[in-house]
Amino acid sequence: MARIPAPPGLPVVGNTLQIPSHSPVEHFVKVASRYEEGIFQLEIAGRTVVLVYDPDLVAEVCDESRFVKRINPPLSIVRDFAGDGLFTADRDEPVWGQAHRILMPAFSQRSMKAYYPQMLEVAEQLVASWAVRQGEDLPVADDMTRLTLDTISLTGFGYRFHSFDSPELHPFLKAMGGALTEAMLRNQQLPFVTKLQRKREVAYRRDIATMQELVDDVIRQRRAEGSTGSKDLLGLMLEASDPRSGARLSDENIRNQVLTFLIAGHETTSGLLSFALYNLLREPHTLARAYDEVDRLLPDDEPPSYETIMKLDVIPRILEETLRVWSPIPLFGVSPMENTTIGDYALPEGARTGVLLPALHRHPKAWDRPAEFDIDRWLPDQKKEHHPAAYKPFGNGERACIGRQFALTEARLALALILRRFAVSDPSVYRMKIKQMLTLKPDGFTLRVRERRAHE
Ligand code: HEM
Repeated sequence: MARIPAPPGLPVVGNTLQIPSHSPVEHFVKVASRYEEGIFQLEIAGRTVVLVYDPDLVAEVCDESRFVKRINPPLSIVRDFAGDGLFTADRDEPVWGQAHRILMPAFSQRSMKAYYPQMLEVAEQLVASWAVRQGEDLPVADDMTRLTLDTISLTGFGYRFHSFDSPELHPFLKAMGGALTEAMLRNQQLPFVTKLQRKREVAYRRDIATMQELVDDVIRQRRAEGSTGSKDLLGLMLEASDPRSGARLSDENIRNQVLTFLIAGHETTSGLLSFALYNLLREPHTLARAYDEVDRLLPDDEPPSYETIMKLDVIPRILEETLRVWSPIPLFGVSPMENTTIGDYALPEGARTGVLLPALHRHPKAWDRPAEFDIDRWLPDQKKEHHPAAYKPFGNGERACIGRQFALTEARLALALILRRFAVSDPSVYRMKIKQMLTLKPDGFTLRVRERRAHE
């Protein structure tokens, strides 16, 4: 057996103090570049964490007959507010399977078509808000967050945040940002340090209460409307039962699911759209191909149909390549169910193992010219040649992202409407600075727009 490479740490604290709390993943990627074995381990806050990014080793840890998602830190900390919602429930809790089976129909392709009018309504609000701010520096990540939060809340729960009506972000987002930042800090703290920080604890509990009050409002509003027969996420949770066990979801679990979907359903897609625009501004050739595509498929100013959005080809490939180069979720965790080996390395039962996506998605064993943004990697005949475990932006197996189609439909539509209407530019030549909470986003990225067609 080979020894898993490990950068030297200090007694007691191990590698904890080497990891900057605002950007742990950037640090992990830097360490990864030193170990071509595609695996290393760190001692963080008293725990051993193994990070894997060689595609062959990743293929092994993605084998669901040997590895399972366990709710370890930071997810066990996020559980303080997401409870037993889908993201933070353990496989062994019956409620995970019940909720998974109840909610799956809400993420079918047919459901995407049903959500489309509301997705379009919110995307048009974004475009209208940019149309009156031409020439201004537009805060990309904030506006993408407005778009994605309003989209998941309207399509999933029939609830309107009206984010584009206000220059301030909704208080829910501030509370969520506070709670997620605290959860990530706690992830790197020894528990006794967390206990000493009373003021932070008070702020953390206040943020959680703010989010829960909003969720209660969403549910109260729907209950007040009576049974609407709606098959949206909330409608299914309130009325459907698990096809296998017949069980219904408890009120508390529904609350946890709504909060989970509000967070998981917008943070990541907002990051994807922000990174996609960043990439397009640096790749004029690809941007030109995207303009060509929208001019061809969306030639007039009419709202595009769902079928038209499904015909796009360049824009979806821009999204796939963006998810390779900048995965909004940079890491997901699994653990072996029994003592096992991957490659030449032994892993004990329960070992905390993370798949480090930025390093996997640029691994030279799997990708030619890994640093190049090339959407033609996603042409069908090239896609067939990809290493089967080299691309995991939506996680793995049964615990993979339930909202994948939702995110990709929403993002295709938003990008198509933006590029049909506006020429985008970046006069301040933004330099990438990553902001990490649970997900990654470009911090402080702005762009400018001007109408493309108005004076033609
Ligand atoms: C799970 C990524 C959008 C809801 C996951 C996981 C990843 C991921 C990597 C697995 C996490 C793990 O193994 O611990 C993404 C990305 C998105 C996106 C990159 C956008 C580009 C969405 C959307 C929704 C959503 C739009 C909801 C509408 C969820 C839920 C889970 C999940 C509920 C937990 C599933 C389960 O374990 O049963 N996502 N996601 N995500 N995602 Fe997404």
